[in-house]
Amino acid sequence: MKNNSVTTSAPGKLLLMGDHAVVYGYPCIVSAVSERIAVTVTTIEEPFFELDALDVNIHGYKKSMSEMGVGVIPRDVIFAELAAKNFIKSFPFSGGISIKTHSQFSQSIGFGSSAATVVSTLAALVKLFHTSIFEKQIFLLAKQTVLDVQGVGSGFDVAAALYGGTLVFQNKGETIEPLTISAIPLIVGYTGIKADTATIVQSVAQKREKEKGKVDRIFEAIGKLVEEAKGKMLEGDWERVGRLMDFNQDYLRDLGVSSEKLESLISAAKNAGAWGAKLSGAGGGDCMIAVTSQDKRAAVTAAIDHAGGTVINVLPGEQGVRAET
Ligand code: MEV
Repeated sequence: MKNNSVTTSAPGKLLLMGDHAVVYGYPCIVSAVSERIAVTVTTIEEPFFELDALDVNIHGYKKSMSEMGVGVIPRDVIFAELAAKNFIKSFPFSGGISIKTHSQFSQSIGFGSSAATVVSTLAALVKLFHTSIFEKQIFLLAKQTVLDVQGVGSGFDVAAALYGGTLVFQNKGETIEPLTISAIPLIVGYTGIKADTATIVQSVAQKREKEKGKVDRIFEAIGKLVEEAKGKMLEGDWERVGRLMDFNQDYLRDLGVSSEKLESLISAAKNAGAWGAKLSGAGGGDCMIAVTSQDKRAAVTAAIDHAGGTVINVLPGEQGVRAET
């Protein structure tokens, strides 16, 4: 092996429309964001798995390769460890690997650091071992890894980390369609509250068990909003997209996944003149998003701030996974 070290990076994501319904096969629109996770994978002679994630205070994590995926694994290690384990299951080798991760964004915000870590780790391993594997196989391996850890998830975050840009994602990844959009007039507000995606996704599943007809009708209606939003985004009609985001938020509220803090940031953005606003992702906390005209941008930003949110400057439509060396 010539190069024994490879660095890759993958972007986080923001879900623009279609949250939760996407878990049930309906379409969503996701955009990759400008904050990335970088992963350096180095082969070592001894058969150990080592990991340093200095941003989250993981120093000198080490275990034998045969123990990968076994025992209690810290949350900040598990995604890279299981990604490496799943890769090596398909492409075995006799040495060990050392991984260093570096995150440009706070893992608590909900930009999908898990999917970005998994995709970045797999892409580095593929490059390091000169493995001939299709992007779609990386997608499936990454999606499986996230499911191994979280138990739930549609895989839209994996697609955003891998392909980048803005995508329509449907049917667990059977359809992944890039949208050519020049700029999204987006503002992102963080609630300061970390959401537990798996618990919220499960709560929606429980609601669906009790009220299947009603919940399925909500998902179907969200799917229709996403279809219309796709066309309006391509036309650049952001005012209409804002309206569709408002309708999407009404349905998410009906599903019971919004929160007081999300609602107060969303109302603040709307009252300051945003075209539309909604939660982004599982709900319960994490981020809200708003679309707004340029002349209202400062007022909407100030209103979110005043309501206790933190405005995060991220650019959507970021490049997917790439080699950094
Ligand atoms: C969470 O970020 C978005 C959900 O739709 C779950 C998923 O699609 O994996 C709630």
